[in-house]
Amino acid sequence: MSDTASPTLVRKVVLALRQRDCDLRPALSAAQRILAQEVQAAGAIQPLLGREELRDLLELFLIHGRTMKPALEAALTRWRAHLLAVADAPAALVTALAVHCFNNEYVFTESAAETMLVDPLRGRLNAGEGTVTEAAVFAAYRPLAGEAWATRFAESLEVLHRIHIEEPAREAVLRRSVARVTPVADAISLDVQRQYEQNPYPRWQRLDVDRARMPARTGAPGRRVLIAGCGTGKQPLTMALAAPEDSFWALDLSAASLAYAMRKAEEAGVGNITFVQGDILELAKFDATFDAVVSSGVLHHLDDPARGLAALGTALAPGGSLKIEVYTQSVAVDAGIALRREHGLPPTPEGIRGFRELVCALPGGHPAARLTAFEDFHATSECRDLVFHVKEHRYTLPRLADMCATAGFRIARVYAGAAPLARFAARFPDADPDTDLAAWSALEGEEPEILAPMYRVSLARI
Ligand SMILES: C[S@@+](CC[C@H](N)C(=O)[O-])C[C@H]1O[C@@H](n2cnc3c(N)ncnc32)[C@H](O)[C@@H]1O
Repeated sequence: MSDTASPTLVRKVVLALRQRDCDLRPALSAAQRILAQEVQAAGAIQPLLGREELRDLLELFLIHGRTMKPALEAALTRWRAHLLAVADAPAALVTALAVHCFNNEYVFTESAAETMLVDPLRGRLNAGEGTVTEAAVFAAYRPLAGEAWATRFAESLEVLHRIHIEEPAREAVLRRSVARVTPVADAISLDVQRQYEQNPYPRWQRLDVDRARMPARTGAPGRRVLIAGCGTGKQPLTMALAAPEDSFWALDLSAASLAYAMRKAEEAGVGNITFVQGDILELAKFDATFDAVVSSGVLHHLDDPARGLAALGTALAPGGSLKIEVYTQSVAVDAGIALRREHGLPPTPEGIRGFRELVCALPGGHPAARLTAFEDFHATSECRDLVFHVKEHRYTLPRLADMCATAGFRIARVYAGAAPLARFAARFPDADPDTDLAAWSALEGEEPEILAPMYRVSLARI
């Protein structure tokens, strides 16, 4: 196999990445594969810049994608350090790197030598010196918000001005308008709230849905739907776009996450979601009922998930549907948490970068080494969510069934992706994958984490 990609293939991927309003994930994976392969062959980013089609590919990938391949990350990190010393790349490319670094919340390693160069650069920019490219290099290390000199580049670095300055400013305004519908008093809820105020999860950019191919809605129109623990809004927006006749309430502890979600809803022109701040545990005080309640990736962060689930039950109208998603076991995450504790790393940007450096240096056979394949490993807030969480429970299917029973529910249906379903059918041809928990448990005994990272289930009252 050739070490480099054909120009025709690269141009095809570039064209795919220029599409609007569609799922860019397949093209982004192809771009990342090509760039990692090219960087491995060339040993650095700079030689790629001599080929126009690769330059375009790199620029689009940096703007829309997330680096997940350690070799590509290492090359981008070295290139950024080089640019800090000599800003010798086209401004558009450096701008794209600054977008990328802002979107992953500056998760790349920064050496002490680099840190020492950032302040003098700020000093020169403050003194009215410095080129557009140097301003973009600065933005590849630090956000532009609060940098008075940045207004000078508002036009030439329009995209950076928008995402570094205007969007956070809009969120600050929206945040003030969030209605509080319940108190937050539980000690763990307060800890969890603090974490997500500092690090809203996830900091997503695109919905990655093809609007023309949204799944057909289910159920009669006009439903009232509660999304409990909506985070930064990806789930509510996806659901609200698919069911414009329904009304959604998206509840979360974190005003920062809600503000992010509200900005995204505003940008997408979605008007059928009401964002509210509150604690699931206090839902009875919200005094509203819903035809459907969904809660994804949330209950396992409560001190007592069964109490939270019972509270979701109080918000359910008679005959309403309830769907939850909670963590399965994960050997890689457990090993990551143990490593983080062993090294006493704090949940700060520096601690998270330090943790990532440790993981990237692990031998391939170490259980935590697999974390580099997790998307959440590759952005600061998400990495904090992955291995620095203030509270999390992990389930097996029987333990999940027990937790649900404590709250007065049973698992009515298991949802699984195409690959686990195919394995299930091969192993238990006569069993029903929707309802046969014993068969799923037996399969998990043979193929641990087959349903990872989360059990997705709908519940019925016992
Ligand atoms: C891991 S994030 C998941 C966000 C979103 N559901 C998703 O899947 O992208 C967990 C979210 O649950 C929220 N959360 C945790 N405990 C909560 C509680 N007791 N009441 C309301 N929201 C809660 C957090 O603030 C956070 O935004």
